[in-house]
Amino acid sequence: MAFMKQRNRESETLVFYVNGKKIIENVVNPEWTLLVYLRNKLSLCGTKLGCGEGGCGACTVMVSKYDRNTQEIIHYPVNACLAPVCSMHGLAVTTVEGIGSTKTKLHPVQERIAKAHGSQCGFCTPGIVMSMYTLLRNQGKPKMEDLDVTFQGNLCRCTGYRPIIEGYKTFTEDWEVMQATNEISNGKVNGLNGCAMGDKCCKLQPSDDNKLFVPSKFVPYDKSQEPIFPPELKLTTVYDMQSLVFKGNNVTWYKPTSMDELLQLTQKYPTAKIIGGNTEVGVEVKFKGQLYPVLIYPSHVKELSQIEVTTHGISIGAAVTLDKIESTFKTVIKTKPEWETRICQAVVEMLHWFAGKQIRSVASIGGNIMTGSPISDLNPIWMAIGARLHLCSVSGTRTVLMDEHFYTGYRKTIVNPGEILQAIEIPFTHQNQYVFAHKQSRRRDDDIAIVNCAVNVCISKSPEYKIEDINIAFGGMAATTILSKKIKQLIGQRWEEKMLENAYQLLLDDLQLSEAAPGGMVAYRRSLAMSLFFRTYLNISKQLNHCIDSRNLSALDKFTPKTPKSSQYFPVDKNQLGSDPIGRPIVHTNALNQATGEAVYTDDMPRYEHELQLALIYTKKAHAKILSVDISNALKHPNVIDYVLPEDIPEGLNICGIFGDEEYFRANLVTSQYQVLGGILATDLLSARKAVNFVNVTYEELKPIITIEEAIENNSMFTFEAKLDRGDVAKTFSNCKHILSGEARTGYQEHFYMEPHAYLAVPREAEEIEIYCANQEHAQTQEILAKLLGIKQHKIVVKVKRVGGAFGGKEMVGRKYAGYVALAAKKTKRPVRLVLERDEDMAGTGGRNPFLVKYKLGFDDNGRIHAVTVESYLNAGHSADQSFWVMAHGLSHCTNSMCIPNVDVVGKICKTNLPTNTSFRGFGNPQTNFAAECMIRDVAEYLKKDLIEIARINMYNEGDRTIYNQPIINCNIRRCFEEVLVNSDFYKRKQEIEEYNKVNRWRKRGIDIVTTTYGIGYGYDSFQQAGALVLIYKDGSVLLTHGGVEMGQGLHTKMIQVASKVLGIPIDMIHTSEVSTDKVPNTIPTAASVSSDLNGMAVKNACEKINERLEPIKSKNPNDHWEKWIQTAFDQRISLSATGFYCEPPVNFDWFTKTGDKLHNYYSFGASVTEVEIDCLTGDHKILRTDIVMDVGNSLNPAIDIGQIEGGFIQGYGMYVMEEMVVSPDGTFLTKGPGAYKIPGFGDIPIEFNVALLANSSNPKAVYSSKAVGEPPLILASSAIFAIREAIKAARKENGIEENFRLNAPATAERIRMACEDHLTKKVDPIKSTWRVEHL
Ligand SMILES: Cc1cc2nc3c(=O)[nH]c(=O)nc-3n(C[C@H](O)[C@H](O)[C@H](O)COP(=O)(O)OP(=O)(O)OC[C@H]3O[C@@H](n4cnc5c(N)ncnc54)[C@H](O)[C@@H]3O)c2cc1C
Ligand code: FES
Ligand code: FES
Repeated sequence: MAFMKQRNRESETLVFYVNGKKIIENVVNPEWTLLVYLRNKLSLCGTKLGCGEGGCGACTVMVSKYDRNTQEIIHYPVNACLAPVCSMHGLAVTTVEGIGSTKTKLHPVQERIAKAHGSQCGFCTPGIVMSMYTLLRNQGKPKMEDLDVTFQGNLCRCTGYRPIIEGYKTFTEDWEVMQATNEISNGKVNGLNGCAMGDKCCKLQPSDDNKLFVPSKFVPYDKSQEPIFPPELKLTTVYDMQSLVFKGNNVTWYKPTSMDELLQLTQKYPTAKIIGGNTEVGVEVKFKGQLYPVLIYPSHVKELSQIEVTTHGISIGAAVTLDKIESTFKTVIKTKPEWETRICQAVVEMLHWFAGKQIRSVASIGGNIMTGSPISDLNPIWMAIGARLHLCSVSGTRTVLMDEHFYTGYRKTIVNPGEILQAIEIPFTHQNQYVFAHKQSRRRDDDIAIVNCAVNVCISKSPEYKIEDINIAFGGMAATTILSKKIKQLIGQRWEEKMLENAYQLLLDDLQLSEAAPGGMVAYRRSLAMSLFFRTYLNISKQLNHCIDSRNLSALDKFTPKTPKSSQYFPVDKNQLGSDPIGRPIVHTNALNQATGEAVYTDDMPRYEHELQLALIYTKKAHAKILSVDISNALKHPNVIDYVLPEDIPEGLNICGIFGDEEYFRANLVTSQYQVLGGILATDLLSARKAVNFVNVTYEELKPIITIEEAIENNSMFTFEAKLDRGDVAKTFSNCKHILSGEARTGYQEHFYMEPHAYLAVPREAEEIEIYCANQEHAQTQEILAKLLGIKQHKIVVKVKRVGGAFGGKEMVGRKYAGYVALAAKKTKRPVRLVLERDEDMAGTGGRNPFLVKYKLGFDDNGRIHAVTVESYLNAGHSADQSFWVMAHGLSHCTNSMCIPNVDVVGKICKTNLPTNTSFRGFGNPQTNFAAECMIRDVAEYLKKDLIEIARINMYNEGDRTIYNQPIINCNIRRCFEEVLVNSDFYKRKQEIEEYNKVNRWRKRGIDIVTTTYGIGYGYDSFQQAGALVLIYKDGSVLLTHGGVEMGQGLHTKMIQVASKVLGIPIDMIHTSEVSTDKVPNTIPTAASVSSDLNGMAVKNACEKINERLEPIKSKNPNDHWEKWIQTAFDQRISLSATGFYCEPPVNFDWFTKTGDKLHNYYSFGASVTEVEIDCLTGDHKILRTDIVMDVGNSLNPAIDIGQIEGGFIQGYGMYVMEEMVVSPDGTFLTKGPGAYKIPGFGDIPIEFNVALLANSSNPKAVYSSKAVGEPPLILASSAIFAIREAIKAARKENGIEENFRLNAPATAERIRMACEDHLTKKVDPIKSTWRVEHL
């Protein structure tokens, strides 16, 4: 009867608010996410799709609801990419468009991120804006620690986060306190903002010219001005009470509102999916191809959505969100004695490291338990404490213990079909009960665990301290969360150090992992289990007031978030005219549009009528013969219109790749996974993607070659090699007192630009076609499309408005994807769009080439290196792409800042069955510079001398020649090196670190310094040219176009500054809209850091031509103004448009004959010092401080250049330390999204980050004496891995191990921990995982 009553109130209409507007949707597809709805239905494209799996935060929106219990409006951030639109019923959604715009009024959150230079490519910006906005809506005056939590779920690949934090710091209470303190101390910063630059710090400069931004100019934030919550949602309960049914073609969504109704539904649909936050199910549907025809959303069922605190414990409804649990537990902790809430404390601590704020706001406790992930962070706690689970179905309720019987297998539980989890009950703790939980992951914030554990132990009172009961549960040690059974044998033993050995053995016996165990890292995970137990032992002993060796206490230190400090120093010419924009920290011209969501990226372009969406069919084997491809079932799928296959390409044209060694569509042989077999075209993307799953491909599998070693063994090499030699190496070796050999290794790095590859082809009349793309090389794209389509280039226009980050990954790779849309548009005569999903993009487009460098050094007693041989290998993947040039560029820098007279170096290109690796910021240098830094360390350690001494003795002096015989002119490397030593207080801190390491057994610190001497230029004449087009309209406004793509690096802004200076007009008179092949032809790729140099000169050239024409008018009418002069010029029939052109003086180095003495145009220099702290027990670490001195000549724009330095450094930190692409021996990429592949997040930046631009440096070789800055700073991040190595050395020394050791990049937590080699790691067998390859 109750069920019938509910049914009467049932509705099929979805009602919610977006940006204050009521949305009434009668035709709801339950498969739509909120993001799909916002972008496709409401055309609100400010909210971006970066990953679709809740891992990047680009899709963050604010959701608001009225809590009828507390009568409060609650605002929370949500990942629109995972939130089902059906779950929005009765809620209010605010998107970035809803808070402000450039056309009306900017919201301070938008203004501050833009003006603080926190938006480069801008793709992450709306998500970050919305996270900050939500925080402010909840707390008008947040604390710095709130910022830390707020941004856990947001990623940015460009900025390095520092400017975002600096901009948003100004909203905090801490900032106000700091301002007050500064005023009191008369401008001398201290405390929060102490700066290594001392009086030079930009924040201390009296003139605003010296500051990157001026907070006092920000519009004040006034919370009372925010839009109100829709009154209807507050007043009516109808939406809460309404049961809902939304029937789609494939899926039906039910929202019951009572327990009865819920149970009737589960009885009727026993295999229905219960939906909590959809954070697990959403990922399963999108990336694992799961289809769940019936979804039941019980969030409004009272019994599932309430938390009850009783005298014995807490009962939590299964649909309660993690955020709600956290806030309730925090309140309970405050109101009860400490001993009673030890479980709550463990849960709250764990929740801090559980996902990001967006996920925690919606993810339910029931979802976490029922999804049964073996690495769930909370399940070990529930299991260790024996939580009770209330299950119910129409047949009744039952209570089960969450013990070792609850999970019956991988993601399987004892819960029956038709039964649901209603609530979980946790007890309060007794006085002699101790509960601790720990988690170790690749990245601290927003990452899944490698291993986690929870310990629940009861210990009798003194003097016995006997273990009365003990339960330890682990995640990450089996296919389910498991309880250690053997550990129970500790019952009766005393809680003392002697017990530990016994415990370790019991854990090792219990926690076996085979070499094939999913996740790999077998030895590491087993040692972690012991390390975490040891930490718990100390924790509890401390609570018991046991006497602990003070050095051991460091095992309890935590890497708790600290307020970051920073300083930026840039020289300013005091005599510069105020009107001269060069050298000023002018805000990125697109920043405001990006911050308001108005900036249009390729996928944001409005849909054309009849537009088709293309989904690609990929190979699923790394090496195989294709036997058949059957698309017939895919074509039967609804909304599918057409397809593209190899036969759609004219005979002989199915060839691409620089060396013609790739195919658009694989026809016979597969040489890597994620090669493209063809594509399916449908009217909507969802249908196209689903249809692809019905394509049937049969293969005959062949043995793949995956790693460099396998390629060497099988002689699988591309024929070309890069070689350089000079002097007489053999003779010098024979005369050298010391000879050493070594190896250095760097891994694969994914570009992880925030905007995935996106292309749109629009056929026009006759054969004309327009291509819109997110790509770094529009002219080359035009060129290859002309060949593919068999038409002349003049009929193809390729346009790039902006690119959401590229870093080299949208250079060559993009051509192929442009080819697919062009082919499909030609075939169908309809516009065709292709936007890669994050997983396709990561698994198919290649990344940074892994390198293995083997070297031999000959040196004297002073450490002067006289000779070196290098044999270097890179993993190219299945085709050559740019690998030769990557190797050549890397090899030419393989001595970095060292001048070594005798060299013999060779670079070989390994051909493997992996996706083709390609250009990536630094282009081989980050890999070989790393090897060079290893070399000097080897020498220093062998001779037991100071590294600084060895670095100095080998460092370039003015006029020294590189290994390809080019003299280094204006050599500033020594200046950078010495200045960074001083700025960082290197020697003093090294001393302090030694003291620290002496007194801390489990925490060690290290500090180290690196340099980079980076040759700028393609080294290839035809690529050293650029063009520009200046159009002046009658109102005096200027439209500037040049050859360089804006992808976040601030190129358009710098070019506008150049034009502004030459034309003598304000920058706001100049606009750049896009780059396009119909404006400036035959441009070179926007790459190799040279775009400002080349395009800047071309822009200057064009503007000078205009000036020449205007000169007579100006001299005749000196008192007129620009607009008047332009009008006069028009009246006098003077052309107001000009093209500009520039080509750099030629280079002459020939790689084949090895003759010539110029490969690069000039050199950029830099040095950095980094200090880190490592946790020897877990391999975790934190950068404490980084100081950089970078030579950028006379900076065109210090804000942009510092942004490039910081962003490059953090990306380099990812490469050297954090980012690990996990690949299985059969060539499958296992880390295909932000969930598994970890780029640095907000929490990973140095606690103190000081960047100084070298003063008094100029560069006659580039525009206005500036220097390239895009790539070189990335290399400086190797200071972090070498500092980590120093810390590990200290740990090893403590363990009596003095010998040299190798630390490969990335120095992951696993590598750090295992390199520390202590009594725990020695207990585990060094099992080699067969689940993944160790190195690519
Ligand atoms: C970006 C990201 C980060 C993450 N980080 C972490 C992390 O750090 N630690 C961690 O442990 N997990 C993490 N997860 C996993 C996931 O978020 C959690 O497991 C979350 O708690 C799942 O809750 P949900 O409500 O979203 O589940 P849903 O996706 O809604 O449901 C998950 C499963 O539980 C079932 N279910 C839900 N409620 C019930 C019920 N009442 N009765 C029966 N079955 C039910 C569903 O049918 C489904 O099978 C992360 C996920 C993402 C996307
Ligand atoms: S797109 Fe939603 S989190 Fe990445
Ligand atoms: S500005 Fe953040 S990803 Fe580009």
